[in-house]
Amino acid sequence: MRILSGIQPSGTLHLGNYFGMMQPAIELQDRGEAFYFIADYHALTTLKDPAVLRQNVREVAIDFLAAGLDPKKCCFFRQSDIRAVAELSWILATVAPMGLLERCHSYKDKIAKGLSASVGLFSYPILMAADILLYDANVVPVGKDQLQHLEITRDIAEKFNNKYGDVFVIPQAKIDESVMLVPGIDGQKMSKSLNNFINIFLPEKELKKVILSIVTDATPLEAPKNPDTCNVFKIYKLLASEQQTTEMQQNYLRGGYGYGHAKNALYELILEKFRTQRNTYLHYMNNRNELDDKLKIGADKARVIAKTTLNKVREHLGFKKLK
Ligand code: ADP
Ligand code: TRP
Repeated sequence: MRILSGIQPSGTLHLGNYFGMMQPAIELQDRGEAFYFIADYHALTTLKDPAVLRQNVREVAIDFLAAGLDPKKCCFFRQSDIRAVAELSWILATVAPMGLLERCHSYKDKIAKGLSASVGLFSYPILMAADILLYDANVVPVGKDQLQHLEITRDIAEKFNNKYGDVFVIPQAKIDESVMLVPGIDGQKMSKSLNNFINIFLPEKELKKVILSIVTDATPLEAPKNPDTCNVFKIYKLLASEQQTTEMQQNYLRGGYGYGHAKNALYELILEKFRTQRNTYLHYMNNRNELDDKLKIGADKARVIAKTTLNKVREHLGFKKLK
């Protein structure tokens, strides 16, 4: 089974991304042949500053490697390192019906949010179809917001196969309903856009500052507190063992335990839980060349598969194969 997914290079990843996306992706690397790439061609539709794009790609790559993605187990690469995807994207554009893309929610939402309507933004789903079909992916783990793009991919693949012969594997979307929703420091869903997130790779001092800024009510230290309505406890229990959770729960209910104590416990727990990941993060931050080496291993592997698929496509179209 080949599993494939793309990751947007949208900057630093947070605790919500970790539980909602990174950890499930990392688990899948043991369950099939996993392909993960950083969707930097896609990013061009929204990100126009080369320095920021470059920085974001590095950050996401380091975050994933630090979180436990193992380039020996899975193929981890930069989308733009494989030019074949742009060629396939053009070919698919010639079979993709306009109406299909015109119905796309994601495009309409982005326009409504003020993004300029470039042809690239409109044909974003075609590039995504090329990403998936180029590597013969069977399963594509995505968030619900990407389901329509997967339907479009299947539609385009079927159209192509009907017209030119069986070339593409028809992929399945995989939506993980069991993924937990991580609350932010203000109790709303943790999100970059709400600026309520905890970045697990922050240096200790900054991490502590963010944790101390978790919003709590004004119950005095001596008074008993309700753990279930407290933002600190909600985040703590995502990371803590059963015993640690029960202990903190009892501390809240007993009273004489302040939010400052709970925040300190959460800070210590994050440091402990993510010790290995934080060390790996620092390692890559200080050894930039190693990151490039890892991404090159992935790109070299992906390129071979991409070339085979693309040549198959070219043959079916009546073009000659390319070296
Ligand atoms: P953000 O809201 O911070 O911009 P994205 O929308 O880019 O995050 O989400 C990237 C991935 O991380 C998606 O797969 C999404 O489901 C997951 N994710 C984001 N925030 C959370 C959260 N608070 N809890 C669980 N998963 C999340
Ligand atoms: N569009 C996806 C997102 O916003 C990222 C992506 C690009 C992707 N190409 C893909 C996801 C191929 C799955 C498969 O999250």
